[in-house]
Amino acid sequence: TWNMGSFLEEAVVDIRQRVGDKKVLCALSGGVDSSVAAVLVHRAVGDKLTCVFVDHGLLRKNEAQQVVDTFRNLFNIKLIHVDASDRFLGKLKGVTDPEEKRKIIGTEFIRVFEEEAGKLGEIDFLVQGTLYPDVVESGTATAAVIKSHHNVGGLPEDMKFKLVEPLRWLFKDEVRRLGEELGLPEDIVWRQPFPGPGLAVRILGEITRDKLEILREADFVVTDEIKRAGLAREIWQYFAVLPNMKSVGVMGDGRTYAYAAVVRAVYSHDGMTADWAKIPHEILGNISTRLVNEVKEINRVVYDITSKPPGTIEWE
Ligand code: XMP
Repeated sequence: TWNMGSFLEEAVVDIRQRVGDKKVLCALSGGVDSSVAAVLVHRAVGDKLTCVFVDHGLLRKNEAQQVVDTFRNLFNIKLIHVDASDRFLGKLKGVTDPEEKRKIIGTEFIRVFEEEAGKLGEIDFLVQGTLYPDVVESGTATAAVIKSHHNVGGLPEDMKFKLVEPLRWLFKDEVRRLGEELGLPEDIVWRQPFPGPGLAVRILGEITRDKLEILREADFVVTDEIKRAGLAREIWQYFAVLPNMKSVGVMGDGRTYAYAAVVRAVYSHDGMTADWAKIPHEILGNISTRLVNEVKEINRVVYDITSKPPGTIEWE
């Protein structure tokens, strides 16, 4: 009978044979798929694998640190952490159009990744966390993964890597089981989907460091409450959005004029359609109280009760 343990053993043997004594590169995002793929390949080829983690400065609270801690410290994987936030935020200055934001982030991501890969000398293989549904959907795997992360065309033509795609026969739930088998922390294995352009598509209007900081704190509160309530696995995505809108409020005996935060949470199987999550009112109340108390720049909280269609999951 088929089980994860034997899949794992066979995959390790396959990867080891294929790679031989060549060098392997992996673009690590911290998401479930690239994380499981990286740890699996590392188990097979050890230090022949180098992971590049491009930190665009649009990640959630503590996220970059968690990626570094997990892969460098826990698994001893060679990890290059590129803090490119200045670069990305510079390019995004003054940009408000959602698709423009995506294009800039996607293009810049490829550039940074290419630069880092260039510093490593001869690389033969590229690890991709392509899943079975990606293969089926797009025909070619390279396009699939880069597209799914960044909605751009793919790696440049002159980067001729051979691909290592150890997850290409697996569905998402199987990837999670494999991740558990490999000893990845629960936080990573059960991580909710997070868009490649990150918080950039959850801040409406111009992205600034201040707004990013507010959204990070707000998102942390939402996430924390959903996890505490034991709802994290049944809700597909749950997060905060900063709609770039201020309103009047009252606190103590003072008037406030501060940002509104949107709470977004949906049930879904694949992100293609979604239903707004029926979070108990008490939990919504806790989220609201904590957001206003703990995030000084927020004085109002609204809950998005739009399903998809006609809404999208993200606000941009
Ligand atoms: P929407 O907002 O279109 O999102 O209903 C559907 C799913 O896709 C994710 N998403 C993205 N993922 N790059 C990504 O890698 C993107 O530009 C992007 N936009 C949306 C979203 O988080 C949801 O899971």
